[in-house]
Amino acid sequence: MTEPGSFDTDFVFDILRGVAAFTRNDVVANLATTVARFPRPDLAVAFNQKQIASKAWLRDSLFDTLGGAFEHIWVLGGWYGVLSALLFDDPRFSIGGIDSIDVDPGCVSVAESLNAAMTANGRFKAITADMETLSYHEAAPTLVINTSCEHVADLSVALGRMPAGMKVVLQSNNYRREPDHVSCVDSLDEFEDQARLAKVLFRGQLVTKNYTRFMLIGER
Ligand SMILES: C[S@@+](CC[C@H](N)C(=O)[O-])C[C@H]1O[C@@H](n2cnc3c(N)ncnc32)[C@H](O)[C@@H]1O
Repeated sequence: MTEPGSFDTDFVFDILRGVAAFTRNDVVANLATTVARFPRPDLAVAFNQKQIASKAWLRDSLFDTLGGAFEHIWVLGGWYGVLSALLFDDPRFSIGGIDSIDVDPGCVSVAESLNAAMTANGRFKAITADMETLSYHEAAPTLVINTSCEHVADLSVALGRMPAGMKVVLQSNNYRREPDHVSCVDSLDEFEDQARLAKVLFRGQLVTKNYTRFMLIGER
């Protein structure tokens, strides 16, 4: 018998597998397998209600602003590949491929498990790299998404590495309690000043209990 509050992988796996059978949803099915293979407590953070709400907000705003057809997307600070899985799962989108780029090598196997079918058919790759030193000249993506801007020490320098006109989706927040959040902002205006995009096509904020998330969609 598991104590209340402890983490029982079988319990979570069984429920998720049941929900996957009921909903026939691939993201839930992959999540069930991933929880069983990689029982990391922070998977629950990556899939918590606030994280998913912010990714659903991103999907809707991206579709409304730039449409749904993208040949090649880079997701920077892609963590466990949740956003990639949600984008592939959304029938409004037609996406050739996604590279999920994260500096933490521990993200690769989890992200590939969450995007199992797309990994197998070559449309998803989890790559270990520092987003602040990426080169965009050899294989430039059609869209760059960075929902981890609060982790980037100098956002305008990181964005300055991209070719002019590159389409971007950026999220940041005002959650300063995390030590890795070195670049938080307190308002959309401050986020715009930090990013210095050539063109802003969408700006919005999502208020949650402990923090506010800010989003910009536009061109570098
Ligand atoms: C906690 S997660 C995602 C937080 C984000 N607010 C979100 O909701 O998607 C932040 C990720 O950014 C990654 N990261 C931080 N600095 C990075 C860098 N310079 N290059 C690539 N990934 C980085 C971390 O390893 C981590 O997986």
